[in-house]
Amino acid sequence: MSEAPSYSPGLAGVIAGRTTIGCVDQGELLYRGYPIQELAQKTCFEEVAYLLLHGELPNELQLAVARKTLYKFATLPDAVLSALRTLPKEANMMDVLRSMVSLTGHFDPVRGDGEEADRQRAYWLTAQISSIIAARFRLLKGLEPVPAKDGLGHAANLLYMCHGAEPTELEAGIVDLTLVLYAEHDFNASTFAARVITSTRSDIVSAVVGGIGALKGPLHGGANEAAMDMLQRFTSGEEAATWVREALSKKQLIMGFGHRVYRNGDHRARILEEKLRELAKQLGADVWMEIYDAIKKPMVEEKKIFPNVDYPCGLVYYLLNLPIDVYTPLFVAARITGWSAHILEQKVDDRIFRPLSIYEGPKMRSVPALKDRP
Ligand SMILES: CC(C)(COP(=O)(O)OP(=O)(O)OC[C@H]1O[C@@H](n2cnc3c(N)ncnc32)[C@H](O)[C@@H]1OP(=O)(O)O)[C@@H](O)C(=O)NCCC(=O)NCCS
Repeated sequence: MSEAPSYSPGLAGVIAGRTTIGCVDQGELLYRGYPIQELAQKTCFEEVAYLLLHGELPNELQLAVARKTLYKFATLPDAVLSALRTLPKEANMMDVLRSMVSLTGHFDPVRGDGEEADRQRAYWLTAQISSIIAARFRLLKGLEPVPAKDGLGHAANLLYMCHGAEPTELEAGIVDLTLVLYAEHDFNASTFAARVITSTRSDIVSAVVGGIGALKGPLHGGANEAAMDMLQRFTSGEEAATWVREALSKKQLIMGFGHRVYRNGDHRARILEEKLRELAKQLGADVWMEIYDAIKKPMVEEKKIFPNVDYPCGLVYYLLNLPIDVYTPLFVAARITGWSAHILEQKVDDRIFRPLSIYEGPKMRSVPALKDRP
């Protein structure tokens, strides 16, 4: 008799596929073999996007072409702009983004099928997502959307399209860093969702829409918003310290802490925290760092649960005056590149995901006639 397949709730610890895109190797996050620390220091988001989509870092010419391609694809179809104007003001930003990606999918400018066409679609979706976020941001403020500006980097353009003015180097640099850190993370929930959809031979837009749905949840990408929601409840470090002790005693989850893969801390959080401290110092935002540290201290020292990247990221975006509901959409603006690389890879793999489950419902029974049912 064959052995029953093993059961792993939530697929924890299960190897569900092969990838050449990203991995966490002995606590170190690598994109195509490059450590995240080095990428964070030496590359910008467009270089990382190219690396993920093509497999190697771009040379100068390839980088210039990638930038031009993103610029060329940044214009939103009229149908998307008018839908952005008509959706209810209170609609959740991730829901808006999900719907608008689906809608823009009807205006796919790329012709044909195959890997190269899908790679172009990945650039197109990367550009469209930033434009959607920025246009919605402005419309909610009663301002007209601003088109992308040729020659600006992707992060700078995103901020430019939001604010209508070019960002400072510091602002563009730190948003660029968040995009680099958020771009890829092997078989996380949203990437897995995108791969599952792709495995049925569905299309890239459907896979990305599914990824957005998965990333929205507060246990995944939604944690950067949830972490900031938590931080902004306090006006001092003491208040935050009192709260976190009480929350821990009630076994409450503290958002922005913990990770399924990193048990000794998330490198991305450390890299971003360093920049966050610089930013807070420049802005004179000391009290925010006191609150940040007051929550972090007992989590790390007593619980040995470390911040994940969403913890510093929420505060970075907050200090840049970005409204909380765009934080998870900004995560999408980065992760679209990782998802796309996985979608391309899954298409080549071409094997449908179809796990098994343990059935715990009623045993087999007959269907009673309608009149006999209670
Ligand atoms: C990310 C996360 C889903 C990982 O979950 P996981 O791998 O299932 O973690 P575990 O359940 O193994 O956690 C082990 C213990 O630490 C606790 N723990 C984990 N994360 C915690 C957190 N953020 N706050 C408080 N306690 C936490 C668990 O409750 C569990 O305690 P127990 O052993 O007493 O039951 C989880 O840490 C979490 O929900 N974090 C908050 C949301 C978040 O920041 N998500 C972004 C991830 S990048």
